[in-house]
Parts: sequence; C-alpha cells; structure tokens
Amino acid sequence: MDTIRGIVFDLYGTLCDVHSVAQQCERFFPGQGQALSQRWRQKQLEYTWLRSLMDRYEDFEQVTEDGLVHSCEQLGLALDEARRRTLCEAYLRLSPFPEVPAALRALQDMGLPLAILSNGSPRSIDAVVEHAGLRERFAQLISADDAAVFKPDRRVYALVEQRLALDRSSILFVSSNAWDATGAGHFGFPTCWVNRRGDAFEQMGQRPTHEVRGLDELPAFLLDRAAAGH
Ligand code: LAC
Repeated sequence: MDTIRGIVFDLYGTLCDVHSVAQQCERFFPGQGQALSQRWRQKQLEYTWLRSLMDRYEDFEQVTEDGLVHSCEQLGLALDEARRRTLCEAYLRLSPFPEVPAALRALQDMGLPLAILSNGSPRSIDAVVEHAGLRERFAQLISADDAAVFKPDRRVYALVEQRLALDRSSILFVSSNAWDATGAGHFGFPTCWVNRRGDAFEQMGQRPTHEVRGLDELPAFLLDRAAAGH
C-alpha cells in the first residue's frame, strides 16, 4: 500500500445506519418495521444497479422512494401520501453508527483530508451529514449525481481523484458495503471494509486491502502503518 494522503467514506450503511428508519416503519406498520426497512434498502440498491445498467439514471432520492413504494406493495402495506413523505424524510435524518463521530474526529486530527463519496444526491448527502453533526469533519462531499450513474460504475469512483487531486493509490476508500469496497478496489483504491456484522465478503476475485469491525479501529491502523514507514 502507498502512503495514505486522504480517506473517502461511503455514507449509507458505513457512516449512517440505513435501518434507523425501521422505528418509523414500525410506527406506521406494527410488526413489519424490520422487514420493510430491510426490503426497502435492498430494493433501493437494486434500482441503482438496474438504472446504471440500463442507462436510466434518476437520482438517489427517486430510487429510494421507488424502493419504498415497491416494498410496501410487496408486503401489502398501505402507503398513503403522508406516510410516503414522512418515511422519505426519515431517510434524510439517519443516525450515525455510535463509534463514527469520535473516529472521524480522531482521523481528522491526524491531518488527513476526509471526504464522502455516496450514491446519494447532493441534497440528501448534505441533509444526512448535517443532521448527524458531521459536516465539519469533511473537506468534500462527493455525489454520484455528478457522474449521473451509480457506484460501482468506475466513473463515480473517478470523481474522487478529480476532487481530491490525489492519485487513487494514495486514497483509502472505506465502506461497509462489500459490493462498494469491491468496486472501489477494482478501480484501484486501497480499501478498508468495515464489517460490523461479521459478514462474508463478495466473491468477485478480490479481497479488501484491510478489514475492521468498526470505524474506531481505523485511527490505530493508520498510526501503525505510519510507524511502519508507509
Ligand atoms: C452510498 C450508499 C449506496 O453510496 O451506500 O452512500
């Protein structure tokens, strides 16, 4: 691994818990909150991949809403206009994972520029990061919207090199989404997979450069690398 000169994070599922919407789902649809939240996220991701393959880009807020509508229909849940709006707005106020605020502060204190690269629209990235109180940690918030296609398309990862003006080999890409870490590794970033649940990595012919169980392990990992002369 080359010297790390910047760190880029995925947002949804890496810094913020997409399933923090499950509570609101449960309030509207008792007994179905978890099921709806899980299905909603899965459909949202599928729609990003399908739209990218079909060259039919719509922004992340639209695919998030479409994923919600489909999931409710599939589960037989009555989603009226007010509930739809409330749940989509809840997606703009996701909670950060508990270790994230302190870990980002420690990484920022190490003097490395931090950025986010997300499939989210600029408005949704901004809203989530602001609500989580994390805005000041980041030098850049980069949206796939600028490439009008979603990760794991290479054109999205390429935005990072342009915006940070760094070579990919010196940017650590951090994601909890194994498919995203795979795409980032394929592009040429060194990767760190945040594997909070002890999942199996994707079978796509590569491994993450590094694996942690939470973001709190990252500062020590980088200090060890620096001490080893990287
Ligand atoms: C992100 C989602 C897709 O790009 O994890 O933030």
